[in-house]
Formats: sequence, C-alpha cells, structure tokens
Amino acid sequence: MYYPEHIIETIRERSDIVSLISEYTALTKKGHSYTGLCPFHNEKTPSFSVSEDKQLYYCFGCGAGGNTITFLMQKENMTFQEAIKYLAERENIELEENYLSQEDIEKNQKKQVLLEITKEAAKFFYFTLRDDKFKDVLSYLVDRGISLDKMKQFGIGYSPTDYNALYKYLKEKGYADHMLMESGLFVTSQKKGFVYDRFASRVIFPIFDVNKKIIAFGGRVIDGSMPKYLNSPENILFNKSNTLYGLNFAKSSTSDYYILVEGYMDVIAMHQAGITQTVASLGTAFTSLHAKILKRYIKEVIIMYDSDTAGINATLRAIPILKSEGLKVKILQLKEYKDPDEFLKQRGKDELLTLIEQAQSDIWFKISRIEMKFDTHVPEQKVKFLQEVVLMLTEINSSIEQSIYIDEISKKYQIEADVLKAEINSQYKRPAAINPIKNVQKSSKNHQNVISTEVVFLSTLYHFPNIGKRIKDYILPEMFEDKLLYDLAKAIFETFESGGDIDMKYFTTNYKEVKDQNIISHVLIHKDIRYEDHTILQKMILENIKRLNKNYIEKRLKNTTDINEVQKLLFQKKELDKLYIDFING
Ligand code: CTP
Ligand code: MN
Repeated sequence: MYYPEHIIETIRERSDIVSLISEYTALTKKGHSYTGLCPFHNEKTPSFSVSEDKQLYYCFGCGAGGNTITFLMQKENMTFQEAIKYLAERENIELEENYLSQEDIEKNQKKQVLLEITKEAAKFFYFTLRDDKFKDVLSYLVDRGISLDKMKQFGIGYSPTDYNALYKYLKEKGYADHMLMESGLFVTSQKKGFVYDRFASRVIFPIFDVNKKIIAFGGRVIDGSMPKYLNSPENILFNKSNTLYGLNFAKSSTSDYYILVEGYMDVIAMHQAGITQTVASLGTAFTSLHAKILKRYIKEVIIMYDSDTAGINATLRAIPILKSEGLKVKILQLKEYKDPDEFLKQRGKDELLTLIEQAQSDIWFKISRIEMKFDTHVPEQKVKFLQEVVLMLTEINSSIEQSIYIDEISKKYQIEADVLKAEINSQYKRPAAINPIKNVQKSSKNHQNVISTEVVFLSTLYHFPNIGKRIKDYILPEMFEDKLLYDLAKAIFETFESGGDIDMKYFTTNYKEVKDQNIISHVLIHKDIRYEDHTILQKMILENIKRLNKNYIEKRLKNTTDINEVQKLLFQKKELDKLYIDFING
C-alpha cells in the first residue's frame, strides 16, 4: 500500500493529536502544551507532554515521542499504512483503494490462495481424524482428556499415514504446484518429483491468526518418534514471532490479564477448564512483537511456563520483554507439576485458579530465584543474598516500585529499609551508572532509540534560542552526519533568522519511522532541565562544538589533497583546542 504525500499531509493537518491521545490518557492544558500520565509506561505523576502546535508528543519519563502516526504505530502496533488508514477514517478523509501498488496486489492475491489451501488442508485433516480407520488417534486424544467439543473448537485433525494423501487431494482440487509448495505443507525429496506431506502421521493443531483464519499447522507424533512436534515453516501468512496460539479465542475473554503458557496442549487444557484467557508462543522464543500484540488487549500477563529449567529460563527471558512494553508481569510456578496441562489433570481447575490469584510479581520471582542460591540462615550468606537483591533492585526504573519492594524485603528479611536504600544509592554512585548519557539511553531503551549527545545538543539549541543564536556561528548543519539531524539543525537555525517556528510538514512527510519521529519530538519538545544549571550547559555546549568541528575537519582532511587546504585545516584543528567562549554570559 502506498499513499501519496498530499494524502499524508492532509491527514496530518486534519488529525488532532490532543483528541487522539485523550482517548488513551487524560490530558490537562498547561501553558502551551497538554500534560498527562504517560500511556507508554506506568507512572503516578504526569511526565507526558503533548504539543498541539507541533502535533507532537514526548514523555520525559520514558523517552517515548512522535506524532499522531507514530503514536498509533507504537501504541496500537499499527504499520504506517494502517495508522494512515485509521486516522483517515477518524477524520472522514477519503482514501481510494487505487493507492495499492502492483506488488501489493499480487501479494494479496497470493495470500488469498494460501489461505484457501490451509483451509482445505485443515478440513481434510479434520475429517481424517473422524474416519473410523484412525479411531486409535481419536482415542489417543480422548485419553489425553480433550473433549470432543474442544477438538472441534480448535479444529484438531490428523494427517494420514500415506506419505502424500494431502498432496494428491489438493492437486485434484486444482492448486498449482508452486502455491502448494509455498504453503509449507509439503516437503520435496532429493529425487526430483517426489513430494511428501510434511505432517504425515501426526495429530494436527491448526494455528489461527487473530481473525480466526488458519495460517499454519503444528503436528504431534503419537508414537515416541522425533521430533515430537513439528510446525509449518514461515511464509507470507505465518510469522512465528507475531503469532500466539489461542489468541483468536482468548481475545473474546473479558479478563484484564492473559496467561502465557508453552504449548498447544496447555492452551487447549486451559480453555477446556474455562480459563480462556490463555495463549502460547508456540515453543519458540517469546518476542517483543508478541508482547506488543498482547498489549493491544490487556495490561497484565501471568507467565505459566513449564516447570523445568528450560521453562524457567524462558520465563526469565520473557519478563524484561513484557515489561519493556509496559505490561505488568506475574509468574506462576507449577513446582512439581510439569506443565499446566498436567496440573489441571492432577489438581483440577479450582486449585489452579487459587494459584493464579496468588501469582508472584516478577520481582518476587527474581528474589526467590536468588534466594535459592543461598542459605539465608547463615549470616555471611544472607549478606551475599541481600547484596544480589540490591543489585536487582537497582534495575527497577520506577522509584515508586523500588520503594515498595524495599519495604517488603525489609519486613520479610528483617533488615532496615534505610540500609537497603543506602546500599542501592551507593550502587548508583558507581561510575558506570552515573554517566548521564548512559542513563538517557537506558530510559529510552523501550523505544529502541539511542538518544545521542547530538540530539541533546540540538534540543538545547532549540530550547535556549538566545544561546542557540550565538552557537550558530560556530556550527554548520553539515557537521551533523545523520540526515535527520542535519535537517533539524538547518530548520532550527532558520527559526533564528525568521523568528518563526519549525515547519512540521517537512518532518512529517519526510520522516515516517517511529525512531525518527521519536528523535524529532526529543529535540523539539524535550527540554533537559539538567541544563538549567548554566555551568553544565556551558560545558556541554563547548564539548559539542569542539567535537562536531573536529569530526568535520577530520572528514575534510580525508577528502582533500590540496596542501594549502590541509595546512589550513590542521591549523583550525589546533586552534579548536584553545577555543573558549562563554556562551552564557558574554
Ligand atoms: N514445540 C515445538 N517443537 C518441538 C517441541 C516443542 O514446536 N520439537 C513447541 C510446541 O508448541 C509444544 C511446546 O513447544 O506445544 C511445548 O513443548 P513440550 O513441553 O515438549 O510439549 P507439551 O506441550 O508438553 O506437549 P505434550 O503434552 O503433547 O507432550
Ligand atoms: Mn504437556
């Protein structure tokens, strides 16, 4: 899909960022801008700012920032095109479908055919399972405790033992070979012309997308052969890292949290027990895309992976991914039970519901992992234990959350809260943590941006225009190698001449990516209060001027062979070291 610039511009002009964002968080007018609680991270005091003039938002807490389009891209996980479409509908702007490129049209057609193939295959598997010839397979599933009702709901089937039954069936239906191969349902043997059904002799679990369309399959053996499970390979329909098994059903539940489990059988057992807010990430690693999708539906996730080491490690990996999307995380450990499926069989639904209610926060889960390494009745070991806990606490970004855990830990392990606090502070004072640039990077990590010193420098130029005007004589936009920073520097310098404000139109139409809009909002909205201290400001400015000039000179030195030029540049470079201007006072 491709929208022409004028359409994007109309949408930008007509969409009102304040009303859009007000649907996510309450905004109050404060001076020239609106403020509210950040919709991208949890906070108790507002650090989120929306500028109506610039149609930009920026969070001083977590660094999220951008325009209406990137807001939807970040918050609703939309693509650029989806966001345009959504805003157009909201503002009643007509979008004609003829913006589709030839490539997109072909891709859509291909997808439609693949969806037909997976649907036909699913039907074929479904009826095969109900065939008398395979009643052993059905008994296997019944023995595993799956009701006929759930088998139907999840479309469970069987791929018959003859090596190419499905292939023959679909060929007869008239599907072209290249499409059948692309469906991932078949494997070609080395000997030319030999096509096998990938899932032959396996129980079939169709994998649905959120719109209940079958996009892939999982297949399980019923004897002991290997591998136990097999999944369709990825193709234009199926992307493992954004597919969650069971989400098509879970999304109808009214629960405000989801339970994340490992496997097909766990999801089915949970749904059968009526705990329909359960999804699985299909044995593959849990990704930030998964987290983004979950966030569209709920605010909290309870991880209930298998109790083995692999499950615990997968839990530890999933926690930061979920948290960095702003989701609340709890962990439920099944201890001596292998997985939710087994727990439900042995202990039943009511006991599981009780455990769900008591699920530990991610922090307590980590504390209990640390505690396992020590005998806290031995004083020296208790010290080591608490030291590790302190290190873990320093990683909590929210100071409110941190303080709550300090209190809880202090009570549980009989240690003064003040002692813990002092210990945490002394960790922060270590050089690695105090570097301000590093801290900025850390807080904006969620948004996969690194806010460079150059971005901070540009922001200062813009927000302290009186000083900026003086700096202008020592800096050229060309000194910024990044195209966006070059454009921003140029636009800021122009405002010094014209006395007007930045032309936002240029930046909306030319920079479409979330990361770029984030930088734009960082420069134009974020005013770093650290620089209200003029000594720090002066130092920062001078360092940046020197660095930018030096890099620029070095670049020119590399590109010139003119001896006079070289001499001139070398002289300039030397002078640079001596450069001192008081930008603040005189
Ligand atoms: N999985 C996979 N490929 C494998 C093994 C596992 O894709 N070779 C995925 C499947 O989605 C499976 C999940 O990981 O459902 C969990 O694997 P495992 O714990 O081994 O299976 P169970 O869910 O316990 O399956 P079952 O109860 O049928 O033995
Ligand atoms: Mn299992």
